[in-house]
Amino acid sequence: MKNTRGRAALGDDFFGRSAELADLVDSLRRDNILLLAPRRVGKTSLMHAAGRSWAVDGDPVLFVDVQGAASEMQFVRRLASAMDRSGGEGLVKSAWNRLSRVLRPVGKVGGNAGPIGLEVELRSASEEDWLATGDALLRALADRETLLLIDELPLLVQQILTSDREGGRDRAKAFLDALRGWRIDPSLSKVHWLVAGSIGLDSLARRHGFSASINDLVLTALGAFDDRTARGMLDALAAGHGTTFDDDARAHLVRRLGGWCLPYYVQILFGEARALAQAGSVDIATVDRAWATLLDADHRSRFDHWWTRLGESLSTPDAERAHALLRHLATVEGGLGHDEARARTMGASLDEEARDRWAFVVDTLTSDGYLLEEDGRLRFRSPLLREFWMERVR
Ligand SMILES: Nc1ncnc2c1ncn2[C@@H]1O[C@H](COP(=O)(O)OP(=O)(O)OP(=O)(O)O)[C@@H](O)[C@H]1O
Ligand SMILES: [Mg+2]
Repeated sequence: MKNTRGRAALGDDFFGRSAELADLVDSLRRDNILLLAPRRVGKTSLMHAAGRSWAVDGDPVLFVDVQGAASEMQFVRRLASAMDRSGGEGLVKSAWNRLSRVLRPVGKVGGNAGPIGLEVELRSASEEDWLATGDALLRALADRETLLLIDELPLLVQQILTSDREGGRDRAKAFLDALRGWRIDPSLSKVHWLVAGSIGLDSLARRHGFSASINDLVLTALGAFDDRTARGMLDALAAGHGTTFDDDARAHLVRRLGGWCLPYYVQILFGEARALAQAGSVDIATVDRAWATLLDADHRSRFDHWWTRLGESLSTPDAERAHALLRHLATVEGGLGHDEARARTMGASLDEEARDRWAFVVDTLTSDGYLLEEDGRLRFRSPLLREFWMERVR
């Protein structure tokens, strides 16, 4: 397998996860799923793997990435584009017929030339056509066991919320309600949904009071690799690149990750170690140099994701509280007692409202994989991320 550093790991470059994958695909036959995991755990990679597994029986798979989409209609356009790409001729034709029925009565379809592409056809549609056109597209999927993979849905919901100050909340709720309506519609029971995103849809929905709009989704958690799997991936990467990784170096790298072997961390450390290796051979000293390199100013962008996404999953005042808390925790290796961390971040005496804010911030940082709470102490979940934070705030 080859070293993947940032993009989804696909095909032969996707390592491990066989039990999670089998469970996920099995559950998807019965339930619609919201995949929840901290950043960079490998959600997008796992979605693609689920797609490959689903397609083995010849059933359709549509991968819809809505990152960068800013409205409900853009969601529909991305869906149309996925159908154009992977739906096959029969599906596109049937969807086109349905779309024309929706758009033709108001004069929005060019002619009778037949389907060029669904996305092209939608160019004439306006923003308010999203519900009718989305419905037409989804109904075209109703006849076959279709897997619909929707990545970064929470970012789109967030975008709708923030881009429209007045009506954003109502629009976001109406959008999520429409998706829920499609998911639970018995006539669309062959369409199976797997939803994920780099910020948690559940916490976003909770924060804005529309948890009921996603209550049909079954929550499925995905964690980091265990140490054994991480060592296995290092072996596979070393074999794929003709690098020698001695046993001590391998064990050392995994130990330094401190029990939080995010596949991404293993990959970026491998990449740096390989680049620094003398004559293709990695020893303990090379691992330490790779670690230090990742934290130098030129390489820190690999972690910026964690820094910037705080502002996306939290409101500005909460993001500021989160930054303050992480700054305190970055400076102490073993973390801080819960009460002390709270006092340093928000002051000693808190009213009920402030206590709620604190609990929410800690909860979000924990579920997003920044923090761990153990025996009443809060600390960074990953020593690597803590060191990055220390450099960043220094
Ligand atoms: N199963 C895997 N095999 C090999 N590498 C993996 C695997 N899963 C994740 N990775 C590594 O982690 C990186 C991020 O993977 P991916 O994009 O799937 O994560 P994600 O959880 O979707 O991230 P984000 O939260 O940013 O959307 C990949 O570039 C790769 O380095
Ligand atoms: Mg992703």
